[in-house]
Amino acid sequence: MNASASTMPKHVAIIMDGNGRWAKNRSLPRAAGHRAGFHTTRDIVEACGRRKISALTLFAFSSENWARPEQEVGLLMDLFLRGLKSEVSSLRDNNVRVGFIGERSAFSEKLQNEMLHAESVTADNDGLRLTIAVNYGGRWDIVNATKKIATQVKEGVLEPEDISIDNFSAAVTLSDLPEPDLFIRTGGEKRISNYLLWHLAYTELYFTDVLYPDFNDDELEQALHFYAGRQRRFGKTGEQVMGKHA
Ligand code: IPE
Ligand code: IPE
Ligand code: MG
Repeated sequence: MNASASTMPKHVAIIMDGNGRWAKNRSLPRAAGHRAGFHTTRDIVEACGRRKISALTLFAFSSENWARPEQEVGLLMDLFLRGLKSEVSSLRDNNVRVGFIGERSAFSEKLQNEMLHAESVTADNDGLRLTIAVNYGGRWDIVNATKKIATQVKEGVLEPEDISIDNFSAAVTLSDLPEPDLFIRTGGEKRISNYLLWHLAYTELYFTDVLYPDFNDDELEQALHFYAGRQRRFGKTGEQVMGKHA
């Protein structure tokens, strides 16, 4: 059964976790898990586009993932670079607009250029907004926003008492998108792992034991079905949300 359009999330944010365990279960090197995860990502981007979901934000590499063995980090960078190169024209042709969030300066010039290229050739697309979080951390995002706000205060364009949730939200990443409606984490862990800390305040959280390489259209449908069954109250009572009380 398809989740109906009115109960579809506009913005889905995913922590793509479990590649390493997927490979281990098959006695394969972790690299094989990351490659399989890459193929899953292609399918999920396509599936979200087909369902007319407006925005998809994927956690590909956290600011903490640098702590992994050098070989694995190198492999992930290589996969990222090659993946971008191979996918950019099909993303462009499928009306996907690509963006990245995270501290880019840590990446090679080649990779930074490829990211800029993907953003510029898809800039005019008005279909799915695909954002890839790389060298991203939720705390980094909040600190970065604080620096922007502090600079505005220092320059005299903003008074400290005028700092608000609205202008802070404008300073964090993804400020031009609605906040994620649905968060999905594959791989069985029930934690946020420093993902979109500011943005997830009222997001519906869905955790599945399915390892990311096994996450597919059916699994996505299950997550959407979960979402369709939630009552989002945003602090109100259930009756208020149902329109029974003012
Ligand atoms: C997620 O899979 C991919 C990245 C963090 C880059 P993992 O590599 O974390 O897989 P597990 O958690 O070890 O199974
Ligand atoms: C979260 O997965 C980051 C990404 C999927 C990119 P991790 O595998 O790094 O998370 P922890 O370490 O289990 O919390
Ligand atoms: Mg993991």
